[in-house]
Formats: sequence, C-alpha cells, structure tokens
Amino acid sequence: MLSQAEIAAFMEHVYSTAYSTRLSDVVVADRMVGARLNGELIGTAGWLPANDRGSTARLIGVFVSPLYARLGIGRRVVGAAEDQARRAGFSTFTIRAPLGSRDFFESLGYQAASHGVWPLTREVALPVAFLRKVDAPPQGVVVQLRGVN
Ligand SMILES: CC(C)(COP(=O)(O)OP(=O)(O)OC[C@H]1O[C@@H](n2cnc3c(N)ncnc32)[C@H](O)[C@@H]1OP(=O)(O)O)[C@@H](O)C(=O)NCCC(=O)NCCS
Repeated sequence: MLSQAEIAAFMEHVYSTAYSTRLSDVVVADRMVGARLNGELIGTAGWLPANDRGSTARLIGVFVSPLYARLGIGRRVVGAAEDQARRAGFSTFTIRAPLGSRDFFESLGYQAASHGVWPLTREVALPVAFLRKVDAPPQGVVVQLRGVN
C-alpha cells in the first residue's frame, strides 16, 4: 500500500526519539497491551486520553507482526486496550490509521469520521483515515408508572 518514499519516511518516524518517548510514556502509564508468543512480542495496542474532557481515548501503537497477520491478534489487543480505557471511564475511541488498516478498524466497529494526511517528514505525508467508535450508552432501568387507586 505504501510507496518506497512513504516506507522510508515511516521508518525514520518510528526510529525517532520523539516516537520512542511517546510510546514509552504510554508503557510507563500502563496503557500498552502486548501479545506475546513464547516470549516474543508479536502485537501491541496502546491508548491515551485524547483531550481534557476525559471521555475520549485515542489508540496508538496498534501493530501486529506481519508473520502473524490475520490470526485475530489485532482484534484481541485492540479489544484489550479498549477494555482498559473503558475501566478508566472512557467510552469513545479514536485512531488515526493509514488507509491500509481502515478495513481492520471498521471490522471492529470504527467508522471513518474524516480523511487527511499525517506529515511524517517535510517531504512525505501519509494518507490516513480518522476513525471513531462510540460505546452504546448503558441501558437504563425501565420503570413503568401507573395510577394508584
Ligand atoms: C492492521 C493490523 C493491526 C491488523 O492486525 P491483524 O492481527 O492482522 O488483524 P486481525 O487478524 O485481528 O483482523 C480482524 C479483522 O480485521 C479485518 N482485517 C484485518 N486486516 C485486514 C486487511 N489487511 N484487509 C482487510 N481486512 C482486514 C478482517 O475483517 C479481519 O477479520 P478476518 O480475518 O476474520 O476476516 C495489522 O495489519 C498491522 O499491524 N498493520 C500495520 C500497522 C497499522 O496500520 N496499524 C494501525 C494504525 S497505527
């Protein structure tokens, strides 16, 4: 899905200090879920509060090793990260996803809110979808009111 220039720019981004710092902040805050196979890390999904209002969590670091693609690992790590965020009181989830993973997130109930670009370097910007999922509100107790004579 990506051009050689986009792959090179993405590699540069992934190996930057800023990216490592951001991910390690999420790990230290205990908001990163990892899937391991015989000790090897094969999938990750993390989250952080998206803003100060406290109801929207933003997913980051959603990756599955290509060797283990399409085995349901992505679904499980994202589900576990969402559950962590739910327990912390979040009910809306967002992700900025490269177009190649849009179908994956849509299969998990996310909907594309808009499209845009993610500037990776001064020269290269990656086309992305901004996706969103909102939990259904909890069902209230139905109380029937009748006249009492
Ligand atoms: C996107 C990604 C996390 C998916 O992980 P995965 O473990 O392969 O996904 P799953 O096996 O859990 O897939 C669950 C469902 O998503 C959909 N899906 C996953 N990958 C898909 C693809 N490439 N094309 C179309 N649908 C896809 C399918 O409906 C799939 O269910 P199925 O296999 O029963 O049909 C993985 O491909 C990846 O790491 N991509 C590169 C990084 C990336 O783009 N991360 C996202 C944002 S930072």
